[in-house]
Amino acid sequence: MIVLATTQRIIGYIIFAVVVAGFVVWLVTNLRGARAEAGSEIELAPNRRPYLTDDELETKQLNLALFSAAGLLAIIGVALPLYWLAEPGRQAGAKEMYQEIFVERGFELYETGAQCVACHGGNGSGGSATFIINDQNGQFVDQVSWIAPALDNVLYRYSEEGVRYVLNYGRPGTPMAAWGAPGGGPLTTQQIDNIIDYLWTVQVSPKQLRSTADDFIKQIDEGLYDRMLKVRKSNEKVTDALKANRLSREDELALGEILFNNQSLASGSYSCARCHVPGAAFGKAYTSFSRVPMSAFGPDLAGVENEATQQQHFDLVNTGMVPGIGYFSRKQGNPQMPAFGTNPNAGQADKGIPDKGPEGMLSIEQLWAVVRYERNLSNDSTVKSAVAGTAESPTFAGGK
Ligand code: HEC
Ligand code: HEC
Repeated sequence: MIVLATTQRIIGYIIFAVVVAGFVVWLVTNLRGARAEAGSEIELAPNRRPYLTDDELETKQLNLALFSAAGLLAIIGVALPLYWLAEPGRQAGAKEMYQEIFVERGFELYETGAQCVACHGGNGSGGSATFIINDQNGQFVDQVSWIAPALDNVLYRYSEEGVRYVLNYGRPGTPMAAWGAPGGGPLTTQQIDNIIDYLWTVQVSPKQLRSTADDFIKQIDEGLYDRMLKVRKSNEKVTDALKANRLSREDELALGEILFNNQSLASGSYSCARCHVPGAAFGKAYTSFSRVPMSAFGPDLAGVENEATQQQHFDLVNTGMVPGIGYFSRKQGNPQMPAFGTNPNAGQADKGIPDKGPEGMLSIEQLWAVVRYERNLSNDSTVKSAVAGTAESPTFAGGK
């Protein structure tokens, strides 16, 4: 595209040079023809000067005029289609150039302007933020290290719109502030868009997205990892998740536990607990601050098996909350419940949204494992003892 644009420019310069040269030649001949000796207008008045003969005028002169006109016409005739041919390339080149400028601006905001990097790490690799918890009188209660999820995979779990929402409004009660003008933050809508343009450039490949979680599981339990890959392979041609092969009950509970709770895998970006378990985002799951009622961003999931069928539950975790669409056949969702199975940005290349393929954060057998684990939370001894063992248990349940 760039090459086309340059070729077009070269042609433009050549045409310009030809036109200028022609003008100069015309000017010089004209001036020379017009130059006359002093007093000659008396001696040889213009009308007395012998003019060209008929032969000269009707053949030589006429031919010259006609040929140069035809030549110029040919140049225009060739130049216009050439210009027309190169125009899409020029436009694409301009678009690409603007895109590069946007990404560069987004990068500057990420690194220095808004310092996302301080919490979310270089290239969106994830990190943490020091956060002070005060009670309602502003008295210091605790200082915690709040996990800041990796952002190099954020566009696999949130649509562009979803990411824009978090950037605009932040997450009240967490270190993530409102950055966009709609939420009272310092950045313009254009700047928020530039940050999203930048985030696109640091997204990992679909393969890396999968292997990051897989390698983490392998480190914890190699046998489980092998069985997981075997089930995944057997599901390669499965399109209906309900008909997919699944791990054994024990394996699903073990795998679900890892995925639900872990905060060290990509800074909690694959985890559910960081939003669904009070305190999990700063390593103090279910630990009570006596003066501050604990709550979580998302609702407590113990008992979710009574709220939804397996299929409804799976669908929700798979595609996340879609604004305006109810879930569990009753509620309108908060769009901040991410999609974990299906990439919400896939298949929208026509809208200019990069397409990284249909797969999301978790594969089918991993999704089923998390779903099974959640539907078993009421029987989970750690959850029960944590809730039973504190005076503040009623306020633990965030959403309830
Ligand atoms: C002071 C630290 C801090 C800064 C600065 C910060 N963030 Fe965050 N951000 C967080 C934390 C912590 C969370 C997780 C909040 C939670 O637990 O729900 C978060 C959440 C997010 C999320 C939601 C991701 C998810 O999966 O839940 C996005 C997107 C995000 N931040 C982008 C940004 C961008 C872009 C910037 C720069 C404009 C930025 N953040 C600046 C700390 C920060
Ligand atoms: C960034 C925060 C966040 C993360 C991470 C997250 N969720 Fe959620 N989730 C929410 C929010 C917010 C809601 C509530 C939506 C509403 O009701 O408006 C929710 C709702 C749910 C519900 C419906 C509960 C009910 O009874 O209404 C289920 C089930 C669920 N999440 C499962 C999961 C699973 C499984 C994971 C991990 C794979 C997960 N969530 C990770 C924020 C999150």
